[in-house]
Amino acid sequence: MHDEALLIATVAMAFVLAFGFGFLAYHLRLPPLVGYLVAGIAIGPFTPGFVADGGLAGQLAEMGVILLMFGVGLHFSAADLMAVRWIAIPGAIGQIALATLVGTGLALAWGWSLGAGLILGLSLSVASTVVLLRALEDRNAVATPNGRIAVGWLIVEDLAMVLALVLLPAIGEMLGGHADTHGAGAEGSLLVSVAITLVKVAAFVTLAILLGPKLVPWLLKQVARTGSRELFTLSVLAVAMGIAFGSAKLFGVSFALGAFFAGVVLSESRFSHRAAADSLPLQDAFAILFFVSVGMLFDPSILIREPLAVAAVLLLIILGKSVFAFVIVILMGYPKSTALTVSASLAQIGEFSFILAGLGVSMGLLPGEGRDLILAGALFSITLNPLVFSAVDKALAKLRPGTYGEKRLAGLQAQLTSLRQRMEAREAEHSLQIQNLVDLFPIFADLDHQAREDLLMLFRPRSATPGQRVIRKGDRPDAAYFISKGTVQVSVGDRLIPLGPGDFFGEMALLSGARRSADVTATDYCQFLTLDQREFRSFVARNPRLREQLDALAAQRSAMNRDRPEAAPVPTI
Ligand code: CMP
Repeated sequence: MHDEALLIATVAMAFVLAFGFGFLAYHLRLPPLVGYLVAGIAIGPFTPGFVADGGLAGQLAEMGVILLMFGVGLHFSAADLMAVRWIAIPGAIGQIALATLVGTGLALAWGWSLGAGLILGLSLSVASTVVLLRALEDRNAVATPNGRIAVGWLIVEDLAMVLALVLLPAIGEMLGGHADTHGAGAEGSLLVSVAITLVKVAAFVTLAILLGPKLVPWLLKQVARTGSRELFTLSVLAVAMGIAFGSAKLFGVSFALGAFFAGVVLSESRFSHRAAADSLPLQDAFAILFFVSVGMLFDPSILIREPLAVAAVLLLIILGKSVFAFVIVILMGYPKSTALTVSASLAQIGEFSFILAGLGVSMGLLPGEGRDLILAGALFSITLNPLVFSAVDKALAKLRPGTYGEKRLAGLQAQLTSLRQRMEAREAEHSLQIQNLVDLFPIFADLDHQAREDLLMLFRPRSATPGQRVIRKGDRPDAAYFISKGTVQVSVGDRLIPLGPGDFFGEMALLSGARRSADVTATDYCQFLTLDQREFRSFVARNPRLREQLDALAAQRSAMNRDRPEAAPVPTI
C-alpha cells in the first residue's frame, strides 16, 4: 500500500471501528471510551485481520495527547482549584504517594527493577480526566462540591504527572533506563540534568505566564475582528499546536506541558468559551485516535499469561486507590458522602498512565509486560467504573445522615457558590451590555448573538463637547457614529435635523463611497460608539439584513435632502 493510503487506511479503520464499538458500548451502558480501546485491539497486531500502521497511529495519538492537554488547560480554573486546595492538594499527593508505593512494592515482588516499579506505581496512581469528567457529567455532579473536589484532586494529579513526565527523561538513567529520545541532559551528572530540565521548564513557564496572556488574547481579538469562523478556529489550533511544538523544540519540555500551558493562557482570555467550543470536535476526533492507538498496543494474551498480575493491578486501581482516597478525605474532615464520591471518581486509570507507560518502555525502564498490565488495568477499570459508581450510589442511599464533616462541606459549598455567583455576575454584565446595545439601537435587533458580541468588540468609544463639529461636509469618511448619549444636529442646507441617543450618522458616505453629505455638530456632551470604515464595511457585508436596513435609511435621508428647503413656502404676513 502507498504511504498515503496507509495513513488513510489507519485513520479510516480507526474511526469506523471506534464508531462501531463506541456505539455498542453506549448501548451496553459502558463508556464509549471502552469501545475505542476495543477498536484499537481489533486493528492491532495481536489480533487477526487488518493491522493498522503502529508508527502512524502513534503519531496520531501524540496529536491526541496535545489536544487533550490543551483541553485540560483550557478548562483549568485557578479560582476553582484554590477553593478546594486544602483537600485536593494533600489528597492527590497522598494518594499518588501511597498508590505508587504499593505499585512499586508489587513490581519489586515480581522481580522488576526499581525504575519499572516507580513507573508502574505512578501509572496506576493517576486517574483519567476524560473518564472522570464524563462520569460526573452523566450524574450531573460536575458543579457539586463533591464533584469540584474530585476535579480539583484530578487537576493536582495531572500537574504532578506533567512534572513526572518532564523529570523522567532526566532521572531515567539513574533508574536504569537509557538516554531518552527527547534529549534532556544525556551527559553530566543527574543533578545537573535535573537542574537543566527544571531551569528550562521554569523559563518556559515564566515566558508562557508573562507573554502568553498579552500576546494570545491580542492575536485572537485581531482574528475575531475579521469575523471569519474558520480563521478563528485555525488560530486556536495554531496556538495549541504551535506552542506545544515550539516549546518542545526550544525548551525541551514535553508536548503535553506545552499544550497544557497553551490552554491555560487561552483560558484567561475572553474568547476561551469560543476557543473551547471551536476546538472541541478536533479534540474529540484525535482523542479517539489516541484511545484507539492505545488499544493497538494491548496484547490480550496477558490475560492468560499473567492473570494474577492483572488481578493485582486491577485490585490496586479499584480497591486500593479508593480506600486510600476514602481514608484521606475522612482524615481531612469531610463527610463519608464526599469520601465515597471521590473514591469512585478516581478508581480508574487513563491517558496519563498510557503516556507514562509509553515513555517508560521507550526508555527501556518498563518491560513490555508492564505496559500490557497497565493497559489491561485501564481497560477493565474504565469498563467497571460505572459499576463502581452505582455501588457508591447504593451505599450513599443507605448511609445514615451523620454530622461528621457536614459543616466543612457546607463551608466549601458556600465558598463555591459565591465564586460561581461572581463569575455569573461577570457574565451577566457582559450579556447586559449586549442587551443594552440592542435596547439602545433597534437597528441591531435582527443580529444574532455572535454578531452582537462582535459588534461590542469592534466599537470604539468617542466623545464630543457642545458645538464641536464631528463631521464636515465634503470630507472623506473615516467612521460611522452611533449615539449612546447626548444630541447632535445634522445641517443640510438651512435645515437642521436633530439626532439623539439610539440614532446614528456617518453611514451614508461609508455605504456609497462618496464624501460626507452634511455637517454634523454636537449640541450637547456626547458619547458615541464608532465603527471605523474598514470594520463597518466588513461587518455590514457579513450581515446582509443590516445592510438592507441601512441602505433603505440612507436612501430616505438623501431623498429628504434632495427635495430641500428652497421650495419651502414663504409664510404670508
Ligand atoms: P455621511 O454623508 O457619511 O455624513 C453626514 C451624515 O449626516 C450622513 O452620512 C448621515 O448619517 C447624516 N444625514 C445626512 N442627511 C440626513 C438627514 N436628512 N437626516 C438624518 N441624518 C442625515
